[in-house]
Amino acid sequence: MIVGDRVELNLFTTLKCNLRCTYCTEADGGALGTQGDVTYSIEDLKTFINTHAPKKEIVVTFYGGEPTLNPGFIEEVIEALPLARFQLQTNGTLMDNVSREVLGKLSNVLISVDGGELATDTYRGEGVYSQVREAVEAMRPFAGGTITARMTWSDSNILVEDFQELASTFDYIYWQFVQAQGFYSPDQVRQKKAVLEELVNLFFTSEKFFPLIPVMGIVRNKLFPHRAIETYNGQTQCRAATHLLNITPDGGIYPCPDLTHDDSLRCGDITTNTLGENMMKSTRDMPCHNCEAFSYCRQNCLKNLHVAYTQKNILFRTNITEPICDLVRFLGRTIDKYDVAAWYGRQSPSVKEEILECPVYEYVEVMP
Ligand SMILES: C[S@@+](CC[C@H](N)C(=O)[O-])C[C@H]1O[C@@H](n2cnc3c(N)ncnc32)[C@H](O)[C@@H]1O
Ligand code: SF4
Ligand code: SF4
Repeated sequence: MIVGDRVELNLFTTLKCNLRCTYCTEADGGALGTQGDVTYSIEDLKTFINTHAPKKEIVVTFYGGEPTLNPGFIEEVIEALPLARFQLQTNGTLMDNVSREVLGKLSNVLISVDGGELATDTYRGEGVYSQVREAVEAMRPFAGGTITARMTWSDSNILVEDFQELASTFDYIYWQFVQAQGFYSPDQVRQKKAVLEELVNLFFTSEKFFPLIPVMGIVRNKLFPHRAIETYNGQTQCRAATHLLNITPDGGIYPCPDLTHDDSLRCGDITTNTLGENMMKSTRDMPCHNCEAFSYCRQNCLKNLHVAYTQKNILFRTNITEPICDLVRFLGRTIDKYDVAAWYGRQSPSVKEEILECPVYEYVEVMP
């Protein structure tokens, strides 16, 4: 199940959450709130790692529900795994629960937003955007690593200005197109494409580096295609096919954080120290190998493909997977309008390094 020398553990510290975001996949799938805090022991976790991932590099993401509702578990894990790297994926509204010591040990904090204040407060709750901005400001002096906006691009009214504002607050912006019904009518897709064109233009023409992870990742993959292959053992860039283990509070193990409600994908258990076959696979039913985007997209996201082409959910395919693939191809084509190699050649060594090996590539799906 674990391919290569790295393993990523998405540890769901709880399935409880203090928010109710409109589009939340976990609420949608029925997982949110079905379990409380972690019930396996730290010893169980260590035994599992020693059995199934000895000598592998470990990257832990504290996930949920809202992971900061269980800060004690986060502290215990950090203490127990001195060789690991740590990331927190949070809604950013309860950062007072996270101690300065823990903040200092996190390589990256992913904070969820939906673009600007209007969209964030519409989908995540009144006042969430300003709470998040204040939280970033307050944690900045104690943060041991980077702070990244994890933006769910839902609303078609999200503007380039929203991204620019995020870039003034966060170190990086990773966006993912929302995976939910009702966001991809032809008009909504047209509006998103118009914003994508402006974003790409700003990326290639701004004096200041615009740290948009999906654009950076596509540029890297176009200029240095081997990077899109070796880091993921030639498989999917979201890592769900190779070395990403999502561990629910009861110790259940799943390939994808969004599909922990799907028992057919349960592939192991921390409490019984078992790890079996990952049933979320890339298959020939998926249209990727004939797709113009394959070389840089590398089947991101495997969940969208699995639900559309393996589970054959036609509504999901036509209303979510296909429009998102259309947007990914559009983004690639828009980038191709620029002389990417010449742009890269003009950059400083530090920007070149950002493009080649930005550490955040290892913490997110890279593609939108
Ligand atoms: C499920 S949440 C769990 C961690 C934490 N509660 C948070 O909100 O960051 C992880 C990420 O998934 C995103 N997410 C939830 N539902 C989504 C959907 N339908 N499409 C795309 N992203 C989604 C959230 O916006 C958040 O950034
Ligand atoms: S904060 Fe995270 S887990 Fe909670 S409802 Fe929103 S997306 Fe879902
Ligand atoms: S854009 Fe869609 S079809 Fe094309 S490679 Fe990516 S996931 Fe596969």
